[in-house]
Amino acid sequence: MSAVQHESDAANSYDAIPYESNPFPFTTPEYLASIAGLFGLEGVDPARCRVLELGCASGGNLLPLAANFPDSHFVGIDASSAQVADGAAAIAGYGLTNIELVCADILTWRHDGEPFDYIICHGVYSWVPDAVQTRILELCRELTHARSICYVSYNTYPGWHLRGSVREMMHYHARGFTDDRERISQSRALLKFLVEAAPDDGAYGQLLREELSVLKDRDDSYLFHEHLEVNNTPLYFYQFAERMSAARLRYLGEASLNAMLPHGFSPTVRETLARIAPDLIRHEQYLDFLRNRTFRRTLMCHEETPLERDIVAASVADYRVSAILRADPPEEGAEQDGPTFTHASGARITVQEPLERGVLEVLAREMPAAVPVATLVAEAAAAIGLAEDDPFVAHKVGSVVLECAANGIAELYRHPDRFTLEIAARPCVAPFARWQLANRGWATNQRHVRVEPPPLERALALLCDGTRERAELEATLGAKVVSGELLMYLDGERLQDPVKVAELMPRGVERALRSLAAHMLLVA
Ligand SMILES: C[S@@+](CC[C@H](N)C(=O)[O-])C[C@H]1O[C@@H](n2cnc3c(N)ncnc32)[C@H](O)[C@@H]1O
Repeated sequence: MSAVQHESDAANSYDAIPYESNPFPFTTPEYLASIAGLFGLEGVDPARCRVLELGCASGGNLLPLAANFPDSHFVGIDASSAQVADGAAAIAGYGLTNIELVCADILTWRHDGEPFDYIICHGVYSWVPDAVQTRILELCRELTHARSICYVSYNTYPGWHLRGSVREMMHYHARGFTDDRERISQSRALLKFLVEAAPDDGAYGQLLREELSVLKDRDDSYLFHEHLEVNNTPLYFYQFAERMSAARLRYLGEASLNAMLPHGFSPTVRETLARIAPDLIRHEQYLDFLRNRTFRRTLMCHEETPLERDIVAASVADYRVSAILRADPPEEGAEQDGPTFTHASGARITVQEPLERGVLEVLAREMPAAVPVATLVAEAAAAIGLAEDDPFVAHKVGSVVLECAANGIAELYRHPDRFTLEIAARPCVAPFARWQLANRGWATNQRHVRVEPPPLERALALLCDGTRERAELEATLGAKVVSGELLMYLDGERLQDPVKVAELMPRGVERALRSLAAHMLLVA
């Protein structure tokens, strides 16, 4: 396919079925600098940096960053004029001045200005022709410097061999239809038909059911661009590594630490892995074989940039840790190996050692806040009666933190949280989140995650601009409930009686404010 053909193809398909443009927490400069820091790469300060996003759609990822980091500069490139126009309208609507979205083809776009400190390319690489793939990695080298961090995500084998078979069947079936919406609904119908007909036991039925469960929660634009686009070319990690080398880039790591570390395997598997895959690239490739991996979020830097590969307990000493955990109440009558915690993913963690327990208890108590490792050390030391500068405690806490990160239970950050869990006398929801709630119905929270508060919380959030006290918030929301603009229920019954509404509003507002805080939308 030629470059010219491609340019119009990319533009047309995303103009016709625009991609839902979302924030991605694992792409933010703060997050990338946190991960790179573990490998000894000191990224440029996210508060004063230059960021480029290739294939930015309508800027769902970049706009909230631009709002939060007014002294940084953001550039987004996308070939779809409809999406770029949508993003430009949002930029003008909110009044951002530190971001530009450019409608251009990655293949032909030229940049003569200053280099970028961060390049993000999420959900693009696998869906573009070879020449564009090559250009993405070239740009990651040409437009950056020795401390820059680049993020590129892509579909991988062996996992995509299985998903690819479903894609091919959908492609075949959708050939019979011309309207894109119909092609999508027909593809969903085909998969449902196949799942219903497949035997309960056996690998084929399982494959189809898994794909159905992936697509069930994804919108039509995802299905269309993942399964019905002309291009979707997954590759093995070792092939991507060869392309990185060709572009004079170095593999830094994966955006999620737990994807890199061989957790959850038996000692025998780990030993075999170490023997057959002694170098990093082979190690990563065999991990993909072991996990049947379908997707990677790879971080890269210049090939000359020195890196520290041994991540040890001391590496996290200056970090902060957040884990969405709750301490389970002891099960009456049941024999337990130790106290248990439940992670947001549903994973149950049993701890036996007092220090481990101390760390998880603090994380559960403070969640979702990111707790400094130094605080974890101090609290854990106090709990077992040791001095907080006892090297054993610092080592043990660092190891527990790393293990939690490796298991995907905890996230590591270098920067302080930009949200508050405290409810101020005049609560304030981050201004860009308020703008999104008013204009999109959802918001990007202060961890750069999309959240969709229910109507009452949304209405409250719009009022929380830091100028209104509790009594005014209650009265204004109450008036909306009484007028019928906002629906409020008690025990399944709709409330509209002014006296009852006034009586219940303080509790409703308190609960809603706590929920906005827990959703990381409140700022100090
Ligand atoms: C699957 S979407 C991903 C959008 C966004 N990064 C995300 O993950 O939500 C791919 C985006 O890349 C853009 N794109 C595809 N080929 C392109 C090219 N050659 N030059 C610029 N943009 C391109 C499309 O217009 C589309 O917005």
